[in-house]
Amino acid sequence: MDQNLDKYLYWPVTNEEIVFSKENNSYVTISGSRLFPICNNVISFLEKTDNFYEGSYLNRVKFNPKNNNVLGTFPLWVINGGYMHTVKREFKPGSVLLELGCASGVDYFGARYNMIGLDVSLKSLQGLCNYKLSIQADATVIPLANQSIDGIISSYFWEHIPPLTKDKMLTEFKRVLKPGGKLVFLYDVETDNNYISLLKKKDNALYNKLFLEGDGHFGYETPAVNKKRFMAYDFILKKHFGMERSALQSNSVYEKYRHLNGILGLTGRVGFFLTSGKLFNYASILFIRLFDETLGRLWPISKSRIIITVANLKK
Ligand SMILES: C[S@@+](CC[C@H](N)C(=O)[O-])C[C@H]1O[C@@H](n2cnc3c(N)ncnc32)[C@H](O)[C@@H]1O
Repeated sequence: MDQNLDKYLYWPVTNEEIVFSKENNSYVTISGSRLFPICNNVISFLEKTDNFYEGSYLNRVKFNPKNNNVLGTFPLWVINGGYMHTVKREFKPGSVLLELGCASGVDYFGARYNMIGLDVSLKSLQGLCNYKLSIQADATVIPLANQSIDGIISSYFWEHIPPLTKDKMLTEFKRVLKPGGKLVFLYDVETDNNYISLLKKKDNALYNKLFLEGDGHFGYETPAVNKKRFMAYDFILKKHFGMERSALQSNSVYEKYRHLNGILGLTGRVGFFLTSGKLFNYASILFIRLFDETLGRLWPISKSRIIITVANLKK
């Protein structure tokens, strides 16, 4: 834990600063009304364990290029729909960034920024390697001071949040971001992609089970609805780019399809074979990225399965 960053802690519920108490070896609100325990370097703001998410996602992106030249940083553009590359382009080194639903984080971000990781899962947060602050909290109440941070980033977090809760969170984002602060979010969306629609038409209940309920995706909304939502909370969209608009999908989709019967199952098995194994997997990720940035743009954005949004808070 970085003592320089704990000055950002703040309890918005009672509008109080949070300070470290040696006596309790915990953080407390200045009035002493609330105590926030520290467990293995994670400060906990949750009142009860989230049984759905606790320990479910332990993903950590270890890739951290040694060389800052084009070759060294090219994988940042390729991995995860270019999420790391976009964050690098949008924020200067040393910026104070909050990553929501960070699980076990991205080592490259920890090396470049003053990172604050927030997740509901303690076990996931314990896997963070070089973040300055680790916060176990629900992102509807962000325990950080007003106008204190440069950016909020997230990957595959936003689709987990039900629409009404998204509104609450956006109010929090506006509160904690500095004027002109920025969001970079990568997330799945409700899509009318032709390949995905085939499953919806064939068996909508199965689609819901595979794509929504199983993963906790309670906040699937179309690219247009997501855009409107950000704009309603004074964010100006700088980028709202859709990926995987065609039948060319990531391994995770073929993994779901390969268990189906008939032609969809067959396409799933072929797709799964072509995107699995170390070599095929890397090659397919690169191919999909190149396709998405070129020919993929020919499909309308409503066909996208994944969106990356960059948005500035109005000054
Ligand atoms: C699909 S995982 C994404 C993990 C990581 N960002 C990645 O890209 O691999 C979603 C994460 O969001 C967290 N999460 C879900 N709802 C949350 C909430 N309301 N507040 C904070 N974290 C939440 C989960 O615990 C989980 O770690």
